[in-house]
Amino acid sequence: MWVEAEGGKQMEQLETIRAEALAAVAAADSLDALEAARVAALGKKGSISGLMATLGKMDAEARKAAGAALNAVKDEVAAAIAAAKGGLEAKALDARLARERVDVTLPARPEAEGRVHPIAQVMEEIAAIFANMGFEVAEGPDIEDDFHNFSALNIPAEHPARQMHDTFYFGERPDGSRHLLRTHTSPVQIRTMLANQPPIRIIAPGRTYRCDSDMTHTPMFHQVEGLVIDRTTHMGHLKGTLIEFVRAFFEVDDVPVRFRPSFFPFTEPSAEIDIGCSREGGGLKIGPGAGWLEIGGSGMVHPNVLKACGIDPDEYQGFAFGMGVERMAMLKYGIPDLRTFFDSDLRWLKHYGFLATDVPTLSGGLTR
Ligand code: DAH
Repeated sequence: MWVEAEGGKQMEQLETIRAEALAAVAAADSLDALEAARVAALGKKGSISGLMATLGKMDAEARKAAGAALNAVKDEVAAAIAAAKGGLEAKALDARLARERVDVTLPARPEAEGRVHPIAQVMEEIAAIFANMGFEVAEGPDIEDDFHNFSALNIPAEHPARQMHDTFYFGERPDGSRHLLRTHTSPVQIRTMLANQPPIRIIAPGRTYRCDSDMTHTPMFHQVEGLVIDRTTHMGHLKGTLIEFVRAFFEVDDVPVRFRPSFFPFTEPSAEIDIGCSREGGGLKIGPGAGWLEIGGSGMVHPNVLKACGIDPDEYQGFAFGMGVERMAMLKYGIPDLRTFFDSDLRWLKHYGFLATDVPTLSGGLTR
């Protein structure tokens, strides 16, 4: 072997290199350190590779013996590296798993603090139900003029109905006219009919204003208007649409709906919409029972209103309705006091509000 050829000196050197390489492998406490030990021994310029290069200068027999010894050391060091590598990799994985540990019993996300206001949620629910019946959502401005809010709706100046509206007026303009905050969503009927040809099928949810404030009135409140205009629309369509709506909204299949004769200047005939309820056991329950609750007004659109919008009443007719959103929300969700809607009390909102992920759809169930 080497020993014979070079008088033991090279064998000694091989033993030193072997011991050093194995010690470096054993001492490596990371994959980086192990790689450094590998390069130092087996790399191109490594200690074992250095000895390999000296084989060329030996005679054939000596080379054979030295080569075998060298290869044995090389294999031994390579095996030690492979074994150490396995151990270090397992250790690195353990460390990473510990570092990235996830408590799968925690809730998926921190609970959202914000809530969707019940008014917004109820308007979305109403829109989802009417969208399913083929209605579009229409809009109009909060600041209206006399024509859209009153006269086009068959409420001329000096008409007693104007007194009932407690209108907020803006200052007089040079021509003597005054803008106002819309007292109902009915002006959206006018804007829709002026801008579109029949057939028309819209709802218009939005803010409305009246100068009135007590237990059951707030100066700003919400309504949802409905309007259908076509050639053959009749009172049966009005009743069928509203009965269908009420049952879908309150999620009670047998809610009685009553149409009580009434008066509105913009409809003829007119009817107030009542729904059945019971007060047995103290609580209010929507459904069959001894009581009735009014939820809005409705009627067949007055010919004067159609004419004001350039629609021929001999050719077209239709129905309209208007409902109070706060009242619908109070009845559906058992909210006892109207004024709390506008108190901006976060505890109230947390209790009565909705998560942003509770999007009302008919297919997914209106309320969950
Ligand atoms: N605009 C009426 C109000 O605020 C409600 C109403 C009644 C709307 C009858 C309608 C309707 O469209 O047909 O009191």
